[in-house]
Amino acid sequence: MDRYAVIGHPVEHSLSPKIHRLFARQTNQALTYEKLPAPEDGFVTVAEEFFAAGGRGLNVTAPFKSVAARWVDESDEVASAAGAVNTIAASSGRCLGYNTDGVGLTTDLRENVGCPIEGKALLILGAGGAVKGIIRSLLALQPRSLTLANRTVENAHALIDELRSADSSVEIECCALGATSGAFDVVVNGTSAGLAGEGALVAESAVQGAFCYDLLYSVQVGVQTPFCAWAAGVGAAKVSDGLGMLVEQAAEAFRIWRAVRPATAPVIAELIGDGSGGE
Ligand code: ATR
Repeated sequence: MDRYAVIGHPVEHSLSPKIHRLFARQTNQALTYEKLPAPEDGFVTVAEEFFAAGGRGLNVTAPFKSVAARWVDESDEVASAAGAVNTIAASSGRCLGYNTDGVGLTTDLRENVGCPIEGKALLILGAGGAVKGIIRSLLALQPRSLTLANRTVENAHALIDELRSADSSVEIECCALGATSGAFDVVVNGTSAGLAGEGALVAESAVQGAFCYDLLYSVQVGVQTPFCAWAAGVGAAKVSDGLGMLVEQAAEAFRIWRAVRPATAPVIAELIGDGSGGE
């Protein structure tokens, strides 16, 4: 049977095996999908062994997306621009790299949560790997303006310099996390701060009345991510975590591997319904 896996450190709590098994059942595809833990400096060894043993494809999660981008034989345009690969497909003895995070996010915003970006004032929090993976896809939707706010403002500067050189027609600026001014229509949290449950990242005025989207997701039914809980509490118009994005990026990876795109709504419903933290 064709073998797939998600590689990460840690990877124990990944929902990807469950999502891909649901996709496989739905589309009658015969495949296996497992968790592939790797030591922090062990991506290349573990990935090489996996493909040498006949593995067909990998999903790549933190902290390996950048090293995966350097390791693959070839990347598509999106993954090359982001410098991050989240999907690898074996093809005629070569490993091809893709990044489906951006399309996963924009599909979730459009199809599942109803959050238009075109013409909106967009604030993105963070300038690390997670944001690099999605920021070009958001810009392509033509927001009116993009503000990138990050704890280390130099990192935000470096990223927007890259975006400006890519000839964006969108008004782009950056600032420190605490220094946003004015109101926004849409706020996307791409920092990892929520993992520690630290709460307030930005001024309350930045999220009041806004659609707030967290790239992180909660695996417990009825429990919001720290960012969503905080934003809802201080007056966000609507909040959403990144569970839909997770399923949509997985569907895109599945399409790359199997040439069929599974329906995502039943899978999202099942994950929300059973609150499964993985297996
Ligand atoms: P990832 O690949 O998950 O994005 P990363 O590249 O380490 O991880 O980036 C994490 C992001 O969260 C960065 O924008 C980081 O800010 P810095 O550039 O200043 O490091 C941000 N971040 C991490 N911890 C944070 C915290 N406690 N408060 C605010 N921002 C934080």
